[in-house]
Amino acid sequence: MKESFKIAKAKRIEELPPYLFAEIDRKKAEMKKRGMDVVDLGIGDPDLPTPARIVEAMRRSIGDPSTHRYPSYQGMLEFRQAVARWYNRRFGVDLDPSKEVLTLIGSKEGIAHVPLAFVDPGDVVLAPDPGYPVYRVATLFAGGVPYFLPLLRENRFFPDLSRIPPDICQKAKLLFINYPNNPTGAVADERFFGKVVEFASKHEIVVCHDGAYTEIAYEGYRPLSFLQVPGAKAVGVEFHSLSKTCNMTGWRLGFVVGNGEVIEGLGKIKTNVDSGVFEAIQRAGVEALDHCEEELGKILPVYQRRRDLLVEALRNAGLRLEKPMATFYLWIDVPTGYTSTQFTTLLLTEAGIVATPGNGFGESGEGYVRMSLTVNEDRLQEAARRLKEMKFRPVQK
Ligand SMILES: Cc1ncc(COP(=O)(O)O)c(C=O)c1O
Repeated sequence: MKESFKIAKAKRIEELPPYLFAEIDRKKAEMKKRGMDVVDLGIGDPDLPTPARIVEAMRRSIGDPSTHRYPSYQGMLEFRQAVARWYNRRFGVDLDPSKEVLTLIGSKEGIAHVPLAFVDPGDVVLAPDPGYPVYRVATLFAGGVPYFLPLLRENRFFPDLSRIPPDICQKAKLLFINYPNNPTGAVADERFFGKVVEFASKHEIVVCHDGAYTEIAYEGYRPLSFLQVPGAKAVGVEFHSLSKTCNMTGWRLGFVVGNGEVIEGLGKIKTNVDSGVFEAIQRAGVEALDHCEEELGKILPVYQRRRDLLVEALRNAGLRLEKPMATFYLWIDVPTGYTSTQFTTLLLTEAGIVATPGNGFGESGEGYVRMSLTVNEDRLQEAARRLKEMKFRPVQK
């Protein structure tokens, strides 16, 4: 018997693109080791706690032994009904909880699995660039071919659907879009969503709209649901999550709503790979959905103050950026003479500020860095103070 052998990984793992944030992670660890006080604006994970009423609902439900068994695959009817109630109240969209709502283990899980239901090897998946990295990786895992749609400032960070070559449109099975957008902070209007519906129905492409940030918006602005646009339900679904809406990233609770056939396909994959979400968590989710307006009334002013503080500090330091109307991200132009990676390194080594290089989200993110508003005002004041002292010298290439 051989003592050991090389354990070869599957090609789908070996072929994954290199982890672009690895270098930043390494430098961050090095700076911390040297005793530097690091202000981490790299992570998109709410720092505020889950609202007490949701934690309390969980506490009550966890004591009920009926929640201890395998959950239903589709998700508890009670939770799906709460989703439908919320969609109706928030967006004026009617959903049938029995066919048009599916509970997810966080929206990432659904996004990662949906290509397995609709993409055969060689099929094309259209995905935004820059964009949430899971769209690309999930496509690759299904044997699909990602085709990236650049999100450019001159197009208000909307993809230009008219520039997609006809052969790509013909081979495309899925289109991922995401508004309010991570990482650019852009928001969609009805006209853009209307164009998406028209494009998708013409080319018979399933639209997967990622609506993770619809509730994180400022100055009373209310982002749209894709499903509010006429014809949307015929062509697609919307992924949603309680992660950002109610500071519940650790709970892993999301859902997908919309086209019943798409939901059925994704559900079929899920019944074979997972066994649903702990029912005590779904009951807490009912509490969250039924009361999220009140909780958001407390959460959003906090992000808005942080946004205003950091935008002003960055502008005072000579940096160019738009004030986002939604999401907790700032998408900042890199000053002339730097790449995204070089500028991120400079921010870290000279100011101890962690930002995410834009090219980590795709090629078209080059020239930008992303900063997140998920740290408290004291830390942002500290970042502002350090930015004031920074000099943006061109670096040697
Ligand atoms: C655009 C976008 N979609 C989806 C997710 C996944 O969120 P969750 O799985 O926590 O619902 C994230 C998380 O950062 C995100 O930024």
